[in-house]
Amino acid sequence: MEYLFHIFGCQMNEADAEVLAGHLEKMGYSPTTAESEADLILLITCCVREHAESKVYGKLGELYSLKQQNPHLILGICGCMPQQEDVARKLETRFPYLDLVFGTHNLPDFPKLLAEVVATGEAVVEVLGTAGLVAENLPRARRDKLKAWVTIMYGCSNFCTYCIVPYVRGHERSREAEAILTEISDLASNGYREITLLGQNVNSYGRDLAGQPDFADLLEGIETIPGIARVRYMTSHPRDFTDKLIGVIARSAKVCEHFHLPVQSGSNSVLKAMNRGYSREQYLELVDKIRSAVPDAVITTDIIVGFPGETEEDFALTLDLLREVRFDTAYTFAYSPRSGTAAADWPEHLSKEEKNARLRHLIEVVNEISLERNLPLLDQTVELLVEGPSRTDPARLTGRTRGNKLVHFVGDSSLTGKIVEARITKVQTWSMHGEQSGLSR
Ligand code: 5AD
Ligand code: SF4
Repeated sequence: MEYLFHIFGCQMNEADAEVLAGHLEKMGYSPTTAESEADLILLITCCVREHAESKVYGKLGELYSLKQQNPHLILGICGCMPQQEDVARKLETRFPYLDLVFGTHNLPDFPKLLAEVVATGEAVVEVLGTAGLVAENLPRARRDKLKAWVTIMYGCSNFCTYCIVPYVRGHERSREAEAILTEISDLASNGYREITLLGQNVNSYGRDLAGQPDFADLLEGIETIPGIARVRYMTSHPRDFTDKLIGVIARSAKVCEHFHLPVQSGSNSVLKAMNRGYSREQYLELVDKIRSAVPDAVITTDIIVGFPGETEEDFALTLDLLREVRFDTAYTFAYSPRSGTAAADWPEHLSKEEKNARLRHLIEVVNEISLERNLPLLDQTVELLVEGPSRTDPARLTGRTRGNKLVHFVGDSSLTGKIVEARITKVQTWSMHGEQSGLSR
């Protein structure tokens, strides 16, 4: 029996996919990349923007003919989309050929739900309204042998007014530090070199645990685990980035000098309406503190344009903030109203054209600054974790700097998984070329 996933959205879904794959492989399934050979196709969905949902609806439409050709195929959908009641109903009526529908809180029950579909041949729809206790010891079939996702907390309690995540992923729940450290030690024993700690807001890690350990304490614990070379984390909330955390990161040999700090807007009135909990000035102060503690910090961000009521002046303030901070790169989005969130019902929505025009302008500025930020790396020596042959140019290997920048260089594929030094020979906006210059470890 073979399974195939279509994964949409963020790293949280990638991590969930590994748990679902773990369950399936325990049940005797193996992965396939050919839709026509699959006995089970599961769409792991995202609803953070309308575009993500449209892609899923498109894929479901496309899969109809496959389902007709192969009535034994089990077609399922899970993740953030069906977690919304109105969407779950829409899925059932518009796509009656779906065999399995379940939400983000049903992940631990997946084997039971699938077994029910197999046994009865009937469709199973199950969406739990609230999250249960944090489940430990879930099986996990990891996709990568070098880099691993480690979920440290689930959900989000921030309720930024544009964001659907707290509604579909529930309130913040942290995993016990001991369970996290054990998982990372096991990963290290299995040869993993890099871990990325996952949570919607890793900076509020531990607030719900006895003794309230914080994220900085957790990082200090991870630092002592031999074998792991690099530690990354996402996503941070600028409001909760403490001086203690900056200190721990600055002293750490393993936590990478990459700070992903979603700012969302450069205008105080928009930040307030978004319920972000910090001002432009506070954000700039945080950037200053980070740069004085970690001089070669790579700082990246997320920005939304066209939030309801965003004026030309507000947008100009965002552009101005970009130029002031000089982000290494930014993920840019046009505001997408999400039903159930506060901002969706507000007046003063901008037209699609206005939002897209601002987005295009923003991307131009982001790219211009990205290139400027990369230029000083020319002729410099950087440390790379070698990920394997480059996807775009198989004659080269791809590695990432500690700041998460992509570098392509000529080298033997046996270097995969090693840390090497390389001299940068060519700089572009999105990636660089280099030459191996140092020994591997
Ligand atoms: N519209 C546009 N972008 C959004 N994001 C979250 N919700 C929305 C929305 N409704 C963006 C934010 C967040 C990133 C993951 O997605 O910038 O940081
Ligand atoms: Fe959404 Fe805000 Fe939570 Fe991030 S912090 S997941 S943007 S509500």
